[in-house]
Amino acid sequence: MIEAILPAGTVAVDTFTDWPHAFLFPEEEEIIRPAVDKRRREFTSARWCARQAMTRLGRAPAPVLPGPRGEPQWPAGLVGSITHCDGYRAAVLAESGVITTVGIDAEPNEPLMDGVLPAVSLPEERDRLDRLLRDHPDVRWDRLLFSAKESVYKAWFPVAGTWLDFEDADITFDPLAGTFEAQLAVAGPELHGRRLTGFSGRWLAAQGLVVTAIAVVARHRPRGARAVRRRAQVPPDPHDGPADRPVQSKEGRARRARPSFALPAQTPAEYSGLRLTGRSLRRVTFSLRYVRVRCCSTVLIVM
Ligand SMILES: CC(C)(COP(=O)(O)OP(=O)(O)OC[C@H]1O[C@@H](n2cnc3c(N)ncnc32)[C@H](O)[C@@H]1OP(=O)(O)O)[C@@H](O)C(=O)NCCC(=O)NCCS
Repeated sequence: MIEAILPAGTVAVDTFTDWPHAFLFPEEEEIIRPAVDKRRREFTSARWCARQAMTRLGRAPAPVLPGPRGEPQWPAGLVGSITHCDGYRAAVLAESGVITTVGIDAEPNEPLMDGVLPAVSLPEERDRLDRLLRDHPDVRWDRLLFSAKESVYKAWFPVAGTWLDFEDADITFDPLAGTFEAQLAVAGPELHGRRLTGFSGRWLAAQGLVVTAIAVVARHRPRGARAVRRRAQVPPDPHDGPADRPVQSKEGRARRARPSFALPAQTPAEYSGLRLTGRSLRRVTFSLRYVRVRCCSTVLIVM
């Protein structure tokens, strides 16, 4: 399900089931041994998702240990994010040369507990949520706001390495486009030559859940990154047993079926995950015009 809101170049695997054959590496086992059964199941299934994603990226399955602040420690050259809530687990991975940072979160599409919203939101966010709930009552916007902030933190921490408070991000949702903007109140690190001031993300409400995702696409791709992106879009091996198949949405299957030369469905601004300036948008427009001119002249030469 969550792959529907992630850009090409990421590999997302999710599941609504805890597979009994999911295994842990001894070092993971060591960490999770004292945990209660619920925690063990979510930890194990999320790692099952992560290892499926590693395999699809052409990597050998590897342990994913929590770092000092709980952050998942990915094998060298990979970035990723994990989420789990009742009945759902997901992991998204990408080559670090393709995606700079990623954050995902899933929550039940249910109201937050009493007293939580004021603690995790700004007054102006609460005003906007009231309007959204009135106009689109099927989505629990308070819970979606919370999820978006969790995704912000998971995308922020690997690049900033610091804590971020709930009031440090001001989230604005677009209810029709399924996108959101997070404006940061604190100075972020420099990414691709620009100061990180916010994130663009996407959201989805389906199957009783609200899910959010942020993926910052690397601006300067290293040599071979194109091949990596193509590899990341390779569908799962049909010889995998059905029990090993993650649950996939219709949108996800449709996206996979898209020919590899198709442009992504998102606009360039959403696609990058980073807020683009007017100048870079003009550059994108120019590039598209250039491609059109090149295509026309090629047709003329062929004729
Ligand atoms: C860490 C936190 C974001 C996890 O979110 P959650 O909704 O409670 O739980 P989820 O199941 O969605 O995610 C858990 C996963 O987050 C990941 N995670 C934990 N700490 C992390 C960090 N510092 N950076 C990135 N990912 C982290 C882990 O992979 C964890 O799964 P694992 O323990 O099985 O490896 C949350 O508990 C937290 O501490 N939030 C406070 C910070 C915050 O959100 N600030 C708001 C900024 S606007």
